[in-house]
Amino acid sequence: MTYPYQIKTLQQYHEAFKQSEENPEMFWDNVAENFVWHKKWDKVLDWNFTEPKVVWFKGGKLNITENCIDRHLATRGDEPALIWEPNNPNEETRVVTYNRLHKRVCQVAQMLTNLGVKKGDRVCIYMGMVPELTYAVLGCARIGAIHSVIFGGFSAQSIADRLEDAKAEYIITCDGAYRGNKEIPLKSVIDDALLGNKVVKKVIVYTRTSTPISMIKDRDFWWEDEMEHAEKQVEKNGVVSFPAVSMDAEDPLFILYTSGSTGKPKGVVHTVAGYMVWSTYTFVNVFQYKTGQIHFCTADIGWITGHSYIVYGPLSAGGTSLMFEGIPTWPDAGRFWEIVDKHKVDILYTAPTAIRSLMGFGLDYVKGKDLSSLKVLGSVGEPINEEAWQWYYKNIGKERCPIVDTWWQTETGGIMISNLAGVTPHKPAHATLPLPGIHPILVDENGNEITGNSVSGNLCIKHPWPGIIRTTYGDHERCRTNYFATYPNLYFTGDGCMRDEDGNYRITGRVDDVLNVSGHRIGTAEVENAINMHSGVVESAVVGYTHDIKGQGIYAYVIYEGSHHEQNLTRPDILQTVSRIIGPIAKPDKIQFVTGLPKTRSGKIMRRILRKIAEGEMGNIGDTSTLLDPNVVEEIIKGVI
Ligand code: WTA
Repeated sequence: MTYPYQIKTLQQYHEAFKQSEENPEMFWDNVAENFVWHKKWDKVLDWNFTEPKVVWFKGGKLNITENCIDRHLATRGDEPALIWEPNNPNEETRVVTYNRLHKRVCQVAQMLTNLGVKKGDRVCIYMGMVPELTYAVLGCARIGAIHSVIFGGFSAQSIADRLEDAKAEYIITCDGAYRGNKEIPLKSVIDDALLGNKVVKKVIVYTRTSTPISMIKDRDFWWEDEMEHAEKQVEKNGVVSFPAVSMDAEDPLFILYTSGSTGKPKGVVHTVAGYMVWSTYTFVNVFQYKTGQIHFCTADIGWITGHSYIVYGPLSAGGTSLMFEGIPTWPDAGRFWEIVDKHKVDILYTAPTAIRSLMGFGLDYVKGKDLSSLKVLGSVGEPINEEAWQWYYKNIGKERCPIVDTWWQTETGGIMISNLAGVTPHKPAHATLPLPGIHPILVDENGNEITGNSVSGNLCIKHPWPGIIRTTYGDHERCRTNYFATYPNLYFTGDGCMRDEDGNYRITGRVDDVLNVSGHRIGTAEVENAINMHSGVVESAVVGYTHDIKGQGIYAYVIYEGSHHEQNLTRPDILQTVSRIIGPIAKPDKIQFVTGLPKTRSGKIMRRILRKIAEGEMGNIGDTSTLLDPNVVEEIIKGVI
C-alpha cells in the first residue's frame, strides 16, 4: 500500500504544516481522499469550541472496518494483519492474515446481530490480550455498535460504574486471562460487577484459561458456540461476507473511560471518520510505516494507545500489528527482546516505565538477542527521562534507530506532538514538534498566550484536528467544563509544557490533580474516594511523588480513627480496599497516618504542601500562614515515612 500523505523529508514536513495552518479544510480533504467512503462528505469541518461542537467530514458515510480490512483483501489477503505472541513463550504464536481477520470479524458481527445487538448499542469488552479482543472490537465497529473496552486490571466496582454510565446491554469477556505467572479471573470479576445490574442482557464468554466459571442461563453465552453458528451464516460456497453498516462520519465509534480531576472517570467519545483519519495519518507519519513492516506496540488494548496503534491505525494502513498477551518481565526481563528477535520486529512502541524497569535488570537480558531488524523506537504515556532515553537509544536501537517521543492523550485520539522517525530530528526527553494540523499554544494562569521560545506554560491547542474528543458520554457539559472552559476558545490538555530555544516542546507533566503512574492516568480524587470507603478512615489526601520506575508514585495521607488501631494491619486493608474499588493499579505506594491535613480557612486541602512533603522537600514548603492550623504541617513532617 502507498501512503500519498506520508511526509518523507524535513522540508515536506514544513510544507505540510504550513498548508494545514493556512487551509486546514483543504489539507484534511486531501488526506481523507485516501480512505474508502460510501458517500463523500459535503463539508470538511464545522466547529466552535464554546459548545463545543466539532463536525469533521459532515455528510460522509463509511464503515471503519472496510478501511481496516476489506480494502486490503485484494492485495494483502494472505499477508499477516495480526501476529499474536502468547504470554507463555512455549505456547504457539498465532498469525492472522487479512483474509482470516475478515472472516472472524464478519462472524463476530453476525454473532452480535444474532444476539440482538444493534447500531448504537454499547458493548462492554473486558478481555485479555488475545486476537479475539481485536475481532470483538472490529465486530462491533462493523455493525455500528459502540465498544467500550475496559482494561483487565480494573475491579468489579470500576466495571459496574462504567457499565452504568454507558448503559451497556452487552458484555464480551473471557473466562480468564494470563499475565506473567498470574491468572486473572475475568468472568468472575464480571459476575461481581453484574450484581445488582439490571441493564446488561447478554454476556459472551471466550475460553482462554479454561478456569471453572459460572454460566447463567439465558444471560451467558459461549463465544465458541455462537461463532460456530455465525460461521455457517457468513460463509456461503467458500465466500465470506457480512455487510458493513453504513455509518455517519460523526456516529460514535467507541467510548473509552479515563480519569480526570473529579472522582468519576469520564467516557471519552470518538467518532468514526475523524478518528480513522487521525489514527491512520499519525501512524503512517510518526513511525514512517512501510507496508510489510512489523509494528509492535506493547500497550494493552484497554488503553487508547492500544486502540489507535495496535488496532485501528496499523490495520487501516494495511500493516502488520504484533499483539502481545504478556508482560515485559516474565518469564524473564528479556521477553520484549526475545519477541523482537523472534518476529523480526521493525517498530517497537513502548512506555518509559517499561524501559526503566528493564534497565534495572541490566544488559544480560539484551545480550544474545538479535535486535538488528529494529528501525524505529517509540515512547508514550509519560515524559521519558534522559537516562531512560539514552539507554533505549544505545542498547536497544544500537544508536541506529530514531526514537519518537509521542505526546498525546485519550482525548486526542492519536499522536499530537512528536518527531517523525528519521524525518524530523529527535531530541532526548522532548516530544519536539507538533504534527501537521496541530497548533499548540502555551498560556499563563489567566489564559494569556506566552509567545516566543525558551518559555513554559499550560499546554492548549487552538484549532480542532480530526481525532479530537467529541463529547463525554451522556454528559456534554462535563466535556465543556473539563476541556473547553478553562481558557476560552482553546482545548486545554491539563499538561504543563516548555518550548525550547528551537521551538521544540517538552511536556513536563500534569498541572491538575491527575497522577501518571506507570503511564496510567489516575485521578487523586478517585483514589481518595476509594481510601475513604475503608470503614476506619475519616479523611484522606493523595498526591504524586517522583518514583524511579513508575514515574509517579501514589502517596496517601490518611486520617484514621477506626477502633482497629494496629497500623501495620490497617495499611494492607486500605490497599485491599483501593484494589476492590478501582483496581490494583491505583494502590498507594506509601500511606502515612496523620491526625490532620493542611487546610485553608475555607476548608480546602493545600496539596502543594503535601506534594513538597512527599517529595522530601521539607525545607521548601513555602507560605503556611493561610492555613487554619500551621502546626499540622510540623506534625506531618515528623511522621514522614
Ligand atoms: C502524559 C496516553 C510526556 C500526559 C497516550 C498526558 C506524556 C497523559 C506523553 C495522557 C509524552 C502521554 N511525554 N507526557 N510523550 N504521552 N503523556 O490519556 O500527561 O492515558 O496528558 O494517553 O499522559 O494519558 P492517556
